[in-house]
Amino acid sequence: MSLKFSPQIEKEINKIIKNYPQKQSALLSILHLAQKEFGYISEEVERLVAQILDIKPIRVREVVTFYTMFHQRPVGKYHIKVCRNISCSINGAEELIDYISEKLGIKVGETTPDKKFTLSVVECLGACEHAPCMQVNSEYYGNLDKKKIDLILERLNNDIND
Ligand code: FES
Repeated sequence: MSLKFSPQIEKEINKIIKNYPQKQSALLSILHLAQKEFGYISEEVERLVAQILDIKPIRVREVVTFYTMFHQRPVGKYHIKVCRNISCSINGAEELIDYISEKLGIKVGETTPDKKFTLSVVECLGACEHAPCMQVNSEYYGNLDKKKIDLILERLNNDIND
């Protein structure tokens, strides 16, 4: 296996592993570091993490495919994840997904050519009382409508994140 973590991340990994009685318990933390290091969790990264933690790669795959916070392929600078679960759907999520898709000129699962935005749909974000909602990187946005989407996209497009 040729893929390696940088010495700095490797140091962090070793420190984290020491916090657990069984090293496989460090899986989530290591995956966060792996994503920070490589940008996304490829199959090669899954195998690397599995090797470090002495577990089968399928165990890593199970976790990576369960949590939407882990990217399985490269994403844009702003990863827009729109919830399409029941509360958000009955409050217009599908229409907003179409709207964002049209505004960005990409389909769900795609990234804009300038690598700025990736659009995904996800299941419940745990903020149903603010439906319809979406997450962009680590920020949550709720009670969405087209006007609010316009403002958010405009701010992100200008790299205004607060
Ligand atoms: S259904 Fe969308 S946040 Fe729960």
